[in-house]
Amino acid sequence: MKVVILGLGYVGSVASAAFARSGHEVLGLDINREVVSNLASGNVVGFEPGLKELLASGLASGRLRLAHVDDPADRSADLVMVCVGTPSLASGGANLAYVRSALEWAIRNVSGASAVVMKSTVPPGTGKRLKAQFLDAAGIGYVSNPEFLREGNAVHDWFHPDRIVIGASSPIALKRMKALYHDMEAPVVATDVTSAEMIKYAANAFLATKIAFVNEIANLCERLDAHIDDVTHGIGLDPRIGSNYLRPGLGYGGSCFPKDVRALDFLSTSNGHSFELLRSVITVNNRQRLLPLLALREVFGALQGVKVAVLGIAFKPDTDDTRDAPALDLVPLLVEEGMEVRAYDPAADARKVLPPEAKVCGSVAEAVEGAQAVVLATEWREIVSSDWAAAARRMAPPRLLFDGRNALDPDAMARLGFEYRGVGRRGTILATSNTSAGSMGRALSD
Ligand code: UDX
Repeated sequence: MKVVILGLGYVGSVASAAFARSGHEVLGLDINREVVSNLASGNVVGFEPGLKELLASGLASGRLRLAHVDDPADRSADLVMVCVGTPSLASGGANLAYVRSALEWAIRNVSGASAVVMKSTVPPGTGKRLKAQFLDAAGIGYVSNPEFLREGNAVHDWFHPDRIVIGASSPIALKRMKALYHDMEAPVVATDVTSAEMIKYAANAFLATKIAFVNEIANLCERLDAHIDDVTHGIGLDPRIGSNYLRPGLGYGGSCFPKDVRALDFLSTSNGHSFELLRSVITVNNRQRLLPLLALREVFGALQGVKVAVLGIAFKPDTDDTRDAPALDLVPLLVEEGMEVRAYDPAADARKVLPPEAKVCGSVAEAVEGAQAVVLATEWREIVSSDWAAAARRMAPPRLLFDGRNALDPDAMARLGFEYRGVGRRGTILATSNTSAGSMGRALSD
């Protein structure tokens, strides 16, 4: 099958290379020449294990071509797939400007396509409108085909999907989509366009809600001297609940959850429904980011001149992506309080995203030197498994350690002389029967 893919960001580049691997003829296009030449020469930006190899084998097979939209190319296709960004507007709604220009471009420039396939995340109801506005007159069908790829796991997630959601406007479009995914062993959820769009938002909003819920339980554990690790273990064993997305901490960030939750909230409001639960999720998530500040105030009182190390600036480990990362809210607040902030991240370009007053360091050791407090904001393996005994020696009293991801062993850290604070783990400090500190934390205490 011949597929034209518009947009070569992390979703578009993975989709292009993966469809070529599945035997399709793929033309991947982008409006940015640098993006195209980087991908074509194997310079994959960011951290997507396997993507470089997948692109290389696609290009070598001749089934994958990458080009700028203006380059001359055979642009005939059975399907056009849109993989462009849908960033947040100030209202919280999704900005569909790139999606609209991609559709306009496709109608003018691609011949033979029976349908436009929307991989970009667009609010429920969008597809119906786009189809009526752009495609009906041209006799082109529409398919919503959301992706569920995690950054840093995109290639793995692509080839091991839990489900393939296809919201097709016609039986012919559905048939073509099934042929597109012919080699995937996953249930196909065939539905109407709007329901497919809703599946994507509901999935992200549900996972965000799960995280917010566990954070609220952790906050309560904190007040009652209960152990959140034991509580999540205890509830996660119930298959109706499941143990995934139950890690408490500074909350969710990244390019999807915050944006999609806000967009769903905006969509609800603009359709006359106040989605109270989602509002609370947003509030709880914003609040979690402030926990280290509250702990610092509690321990130090005035924060002027207090030295603090912030470890982890990316929104999660194994990515250099800082979009909507908790540290981006936290660090400016600490600077405002007059704290001397020293930040470190193994991959993110912290200088670009933090206020100039924050000193960006080249290692954990440099960041904690002379610091009276340290905040672990992202659970990078390098940070979690760093030499905490040496860090304690480098630091100054009272050695407050705010573990914003519950990634360290509280007892081991207390023994090293840290004043340990986690999220909902107050009861675990120096507990004698610690049964479920995370495996990384346990490794530290072994
Ligand atoms: C997410 C969805 O998982 C993916 O299906 C969708 O296509 C895009 O958005 P991603 O943003 O890459 O993927 O990150 P993910 O690994 O899901 O984590 C999102 C955020 O939630 C991170 O900030 C992470 O630290 C946080 N998180 C995750 C928690 O705070 N607790 C958890 O238990 C799990």
